[in-house]
Amino acid sequence: MSPPDSKSGPPPKSTAKGQALYAKARALIPGGTQLLSKRPEMFLPGGWPAYYNKAKGAEITDLDGNTYIDMSIGGVGATVLGYADPDVDGAVKAAIDAGSMTTLNCPEEVRLAELLVALHPWSRMVRFSRSGGEAMSIAVRIARAHTGRQVIAFCGYHGWHDWYLSANLADDSTLDGHLLAGLAPKGVPRGLQGLMQPFHYNDLAGLKRIAQEHGANLAAIVMEPVRNPPAPGFLEGVRQVADECGAVLVFDEITAGFRVNTGGIHLTLGVDPDMAVFAKAMGNGYPISAVLGREAVMAAAQETFISSTAWTERTGPAAALATITKYRARNVSAHLVRVGERVMAGWRRAAATADLPIEVSGIAPLAHFAFQVPDAVAARTLFTQLMLDRGYLAKDAFYAMYAHTDAQVDGFIAACEDAFVRIAVAVRANRVRDALRGDVAHSGFQRLT
Ligand SMILES: Cc1ncc(COP(=O)(O)O)c(C=O)c1O
Repeated sequence: MSPPDSKSGPPPKSTAKGQALYAKARALIPGGTQLLSKRPEMFLPGGWPAYYNKAKGAEITDLDGNTYIDMSIGGVGATVLGYADPDVDGAVKAAIDAGSMTTLNCPEEVRLAELLVALHPWSRMVRFSRSGGEAMSIAVRIARAHTGRQVIAFCGYHGWHDWYLSANLADDSTLDGHLLAGLAPKGVPRGLQGLMQPFHYNDLAGLKRIAQEHGANLAAIVMEPVRNPPAPGFLEGVRQVADECGAVLVFDEITAGFRVNTGGIHLTLGVDPDMAVFAKAMGNGYPISAVLGREAVMAAAQETFISSTAWTERTGPAAALATITKYRARNVSAHLVRVGERVMAGWRRAAATADLPIEVSGIAPLAHFAFQVPDAVAARTLFTQLMLDRGYLAKDAFYAMYAHTDAQVDGFIAACEDAFVRIAVAVRANRVRDALRGDVAHSGFQRLT
């Protein structure tokens, strides 16, 4: 019997209503969506459902009435408990019923500040905002105000704002691509050029070179504490460089926080920053972000101007209090790690059975894989197409949610086994693109790791 090819199997689902709305959106909204990572072209051009009508647990129903199990990036990493979590939504509804916006401040923000400081004993003070990128801007502004310096050493992705995108203001266009492929810095003042100094994760020597050249003007070292595991001594070395230069060490915990423990992943790594920034998982998808810091550093927030009306509404802090309370009570991180490890092992097994080379990376709750084949982006697109036909939202990443059940993971792995065999057949016949019903997915920018 010959192995199944990529054309047989369940019939494609119609996503016509989603496609039609997205066509309209592209004419009305530059870029089609508000977030690059939610662009349908990033998944399956012409086939991705694009919009949802409702979502519950790990299930999403699209505009055409198809219900999928979401085994992709769970609200881009925001919905760590799952969609429409009853406890978080209950707290938000209560906040709305009690008045979500008034002339006075909401007491929840003080309770949330107290809770975050208790979870991170090295910190003393907290500022809140509502998205990850703006919280990073706040952290960088405070670091520059505190030190009176301008240069930022950084690695990884930290949002869309001028301070960060100025990293791509290089005269040498090859450096642009190396740093943040695909992110053009048009509109960012050229006067910011040279203030952002990149280093690669686990490259302590690279950071030390920056410190040697710019140490006296180094305001901050900005990085995620972990994406892949740190090399022994790397984070301790970063801490030492920051201390020696008098630079503020900022850990961006926007994606890594609340995955393997209740709070920042740095708590598990034995190195404390001077500031830590949270968003995403902290509010299970409701807009809330936080900048925690040492008292001396955070005091500089009063020597500059950081202030916004929307940062005072009530639903964000209410959602965060409910999310963190449930996260801790249910030992959610243990579930995320276990589910993530099962998916990583499932990918590896399915790939070995299909004789399809893949590389699995990331931490268990934020797992990734990459096809090690020629035309890997086309293979990844075909994976998404085959999985969509089988009722799964899937790509080359899996962000675990508390709502994911073992039965869902079992079904997903079985579907991956089937899809990987079909992809292997197409790869061997050099017919991956022929098997696609639309274009190859976009790759977007690459994180600097
Ligand atoms: C590490 C990191 N920093 C910053 C951001 C930006 O956060 P937001 O999209 O909420 O502005 C992200 C988002 O993916 C992120 O992963």
